[in-house]
Amino acid sequence: MTLHAIETLFDPTLRAGLFDLRRDLHRHPELAFQEVRTAARLEAALGAAGADDVRRVAGTGLVARVPGRHADGPVVALRGDIDALPIHEETGVAFASATAGVMHACGHDVHATWTIGAAHLLARQPAVGEVRILLQPAEELGRGALALLEAGALDGVRAIVGGHVDMRIALGQVIAEPGPIAGSTDEFVIEVVGRGGHAARPHEARDPIVAAAGIVIGLQTIVARRLAPGEPAVVTVATFQAGTAENVIPERARLTGTLRAVRPDTRLALQAELRRTAEAIAAAHDVEARVDLRAGTPPIINSGETIGWARTAVTMLLGQDAFRTLPTPNLGGEDFAFYLERLPGCFIRIGAHEPGTERTMAHTPRFLPDERAILIGAAVLAETARRAAAELSS
Ligand code: NI
Repeated sequence: MTLHAIETLFDPTLRAGLFDLRRDLHRHPELAFQEVRTAARLEAALGAAGADDVRRVAGTGLVARVPGRHADGPVVALRGDIDALPIHEETGVAFASATAGVMHACGHDVHATWTIGAAHLLARQPAVGEVRILLQPAEELGRGALALLEAGALDGVRAIVGGHVDMRIALGQVIAEPGPIAGSTDEFVIEVVGRGGHAARPHEARDPIVAAAGIVIGLQTIVARRLAPGEPAVVTVATFQAGTAENVIPERARLTGTLRAVRPDTRLALQAELRRTAEAIAAAHDVEARVDLRAGTPPIINSGETIGWARTAVTMLLGQDAFRTLPTPNLGGEDFAFYLERLPGCFIRIGAHEPGTERTMAHTPRFLPDERAILIGAAVLAETARRAAAELSS
């Protein structure tokens, strides 16, 4: 099958309706946990898709069920995220954001819409068991998945499937491979506490700026010198704040940043090395480093068995030629990882770049995935859910 064949799974009215829905969501983006209009629009769309028991959860989240062929068949969840980013859109399209400074710059408008499309396909051709549709808020904060889990939205679910648009690969191509597909995301704050003084008399002060600068450079040696070559990991210092005037040595400097890894032991090593390096360099400068680590999302690691559900679906719908591998390890975070801490599942990346057009990247003001990725996502994820249910019931 090809993209054209996938298009024929959707009658012209449904296809137009999905594109309209996505453009409407795109024009009215809402930030994490503020997706009020978005949730109302999606609630109506779920009803029209033939889903039952549509419920609000975790404020702006939605959960619904598409009945399976057997009442006692295994329940599989299909998740789409719905929130936007604090970015001012510069795509220039007719359906560009009407809200200044807020934009669907990560494709969650596409994900929400392909989830609705999948509900339509599953209502028409059900899985063995119920498919639980999840429309999740606040992915960008890394908190929406936990909110849905705490609200009991996943109770009774045996497996979960999800995906993300990807502009690095072409429309019709899919990344569905065993192993890591998203990184862990831990945040850090390092408060460097010295003693302020006159800028002309540094010997009377203990300068937190020079110490913090040493810490920034020292942290770069963690990946370079403490981890094995080729181990995927990132230490990024993203903010550095200190000082108020050119003739004053301040009391404090403050660094914040992120640690990324794909293996649990590497994640722990980054945390330990960050703390040790910051404290030791601070001590060398006779200042104090107060290190605060905040655990974020775990990595996503697809197992060979669960990603097999998606691979079978992709092979059937798009053929063997559709598969691509991650060009480089992906250390972006994705809170879908919290579901996978509790139940089996798989996560795929779905190509959205039309060859010959500008390759606009996620989290930038010009990000513009091809809307036909909606049809591919809907078809592939619906079929992946059917395969998961079939495997779990055999
Ligand atoms: Ni995203």
